[in-house]
Amino acid sequence: MKARPWTALLHCILVSGLIVEAIEPVSTSLLLGTGAAMLGRKIYRYLYETCDENWVNFNATGLKYDLDTKLYGQHVAAQVILKAVTGFMKNENPKKPLVLSLHGWTGTGKNFVSQLIAENIYEKGMSSSFVHLFTATAHFPHEMHINTYKSQLQNWVKGNVTICPRSMFIFDEMDKMHPGLIDSIKPYLDFYESLDGVSYRQAIFIFLSNAGGENIVQVALDFWRDGREREEMQLKDLETALSLSVFNNRNSGFWHTGLIDKNLVDFFVPFLPLEYKHIVQCGLSEMVSKGHVPDKEVVEMMAHDLNYFPKEERVFSMQGCKVIPSRLDFYV
Ligand SMILES: Nc1ncnc2c1ncn2[C@@H]1O[C@H](COP(=O)(O)OP(=O)(O)OP(=O)(O)O)[C@@H](O)[C@H]1O
Ligand SMILES: *[C@@H]1O[C@H](CO)[C@@H](O)[C@H](O)[C@H]1NC(C)=O
Ligand SMILES: *[C@@H]1O[C@H](CO)[C@@H](O)[C@H](O)[C@H]1NC(C)=O
Ligand SMILES: [Mg+2]
Repeated sequence: MKARPWTALLHCILVSGLIVEAIEPVSTSLLLGTGAAMLGRKIYRYLYETCDENWVNFNATGLKYDLDTKLYGQHVAAQVILKAVTGFMKNENPKKPLVLSLHGWTGTGKNFVSQLIAENIYEKGMSSSFVHLFTATAHFPHEMHINTYKSQLQNWVKGNVTICPRSMFIFDEMDKMHPGLIDSIKPYLDFYESLDGVSYRQAIFIFLSNAGGENIVQVALDFWRDGREREEMQLKDLETALSLSVFNNRNSGFWHTGLIDKNLVDFFVPFLPLEYKHIVQCGLSEMVSKGHVPDKEVVEMMAHDLNYFPKEERVFSMQGCKVIPSRLDFYV
């Protein structure tokens, strides 16, 4: 939490105290009453999240810092995300909401990056009431209820954007979402000035999926086999892989919805598979966040016992950094 609301609160107490002293004793009680009411309002505003700059305030420096220091092995994703989010948030008059689609192997940081974005926009991060996370299998599990889900989802998006234009919607397991459901939110992603009097242009939509992950792995593996640096890999090297696997995949419901044809997604963000050294980095920061002194020997032991692929070369971690929090407990 930032200190700002408290400072304002203190200021308020001080000012009302000074006024009371100066006019004593004529209308002390009256002023005290007003002071208490003001105080009450301030406290209420401090505790109750509102859609204003006290609670919703983009920190570009913070996002850059977090992407540079907390996200490992994702130089392409970090660069695209920083540019996309900063550009959008600094644009006073965006023509459409920001729509990002994050792709990649499991445990490579897709949810983690969404969290970093949320933390640098909303004071309360992921627990903000303006950030909404939908998981296909948890929120929309039964295909037979698709029509209920559709109207529910539309009402949620509309209702929440009405309350706060700067709302964020994260759709996890996008590749498992029913195409009809994706279709139902399509209008909100488009270039409309407003729909039924509600403008969606300040909103942020983030789609997460493993779609295209295997092709991204193939590109990364080719680089590795050619002895080239991972950091040489650029967005354009991966875009082709993504488009071949995702955009042209006739079996993928996600991509049958015109989301791509209509250019509603602003950025496709590839997440690279993680290597041993990134697992070690994740392990070290996990130790710190659990309150331990980071111990490289312990972390290396843990990282060594994880599974890597391809079998012969053991280049990329099978589960990425995802299992580290639970695994680490066996080693410390
Ligand atoms: N590149 C990374 N840098 C730093 N930490 C990471 C990275 N990738 C994953 N982690 C850590 O591992 C945890 C799990 O990763 P995350 O949930 O973001 O994976 P994911 O890409 O969403 O995987 P899945 O496709 O299985 O949902 C994160 O909370 C974070 O602590
Ligand atoms: C923005 O983030 C930076 C780096 O994390 C931090 O030092 C700074 O205090 C933040 N600014 C605001 C206004 O919160
Ligand atoms: C906002 O979205 C949440 C789901 O995240 C939903 O439960 C809630 O009813 C929505 N609010 C409105 C006003 O539609
Ligand atoms: Mg995930």
